[in-house]
Amino acid sequence: GMTYETLIVEQHDAVTLVRLNRPQALNALNSQVLADLIAAFAAYDGDASQRCLVLTGSEKAFAAGADIKEMSDQSFAEMYGANFFGGYDRVTATRKPFIAAVSGFALGGGCELAMMADFIIASDTAKFGQPEIKLAVTPGMGGSQRLVRAIGKAKAMEMCLTGRMMDAAEAERSGLVARVVPAAELVDEAMKTAKAIAGMAPLAVLAVKEQVEAAFEMTLSAGIRFERRLFHGLFGSADQKEGMAAFVAKRPGVWTGT
Ligand code: CAA
Repeated sequence: GMTYETLIVEQHDAVTLVRLNRPQALNALNSQVLADLIAAFAAYDGDASQRCLVLTGSEKAFAAGADIKEMSDQSFAEMYGANFFGGYDRVTATRKPFIAAVSGFALGGGCELAMMADFIIASDTAKFGQPEIKLAVTPGMGGSQRLVRAIGKAKAMEMCLTGRMMDAAEAERSGLVARVVPAAELVDEAMKTAKAIAGMAPLAVLAVKEQVEAAFEMTLSAGIRFERRLFHGLFGSADQKEGMAAFVAKRPGVWTGT
């Protein structure tokens, strides 16, 4: 398969495992990491054999933020002119599901990248934060928006204004992460969850992701109409017929993705 300068990418049956791999910089997200992520996610989305993706870092750091050394001397004209971080829209445009498996530091852009995932599974050592304020800047990869939607205004505002870190227990309590698992089991647990999703009917998986994402963009009534139309649409699929017939016959469904 493809090789990347800053990522280690493996396919385990229908699940793609992507590891951020800049250990010397605690996986700080520089332009090369972004270029690699865009390529790896596009390859995943375009590969019909792959049904779910797990994005992880190291035990010490999921990612300690955007690369401060790369940004420090940039001018406004350079940042605005290049639409710096704009490329992350291509990561979030991924239509198939992806899970962030977070151990250690998920700070600044690291926390923001984790929040781009469909959900986060955290190890008990995970630490989330938006410390940009301490650098005299703000979140720039969606943190001020996604954190508010994930944990509400009070905690999001406090985190962004103080730069304090949130541990795994608080992150679970606050709804930032779906589940907390022991550090040694993080990747196995995330892969197990990804494998379960990979075993679902592919069109239904795409539809669920579109529906839940719509909840962040639409009014309630428009979102419910959108949901219902996607639900109706699945009755045009062979897998819906198979899924319901298999239930009635008390056997597992066998999907064709059609
Ligand atoms: N950018 C560039 N390099 C980074 C980095 C980052 N965000 N985070 C860590 N590193 C580098 C360090 O400079 C260090 O490199 P050297 O060995 O060459 O000095 C190496 O990674 C190891 O880091 P530390 O020695 O600092 O490790 P530590 O265990 O003492 O501390 C830490 C860990 C608390 C996470 C600390 O590294 C830290 O505070 N990092 C920066 C966190 C931060 O401010 N993130 C926000 C970045 S801005 C941003 O993300 C903008 C946005 O919205 C997208």
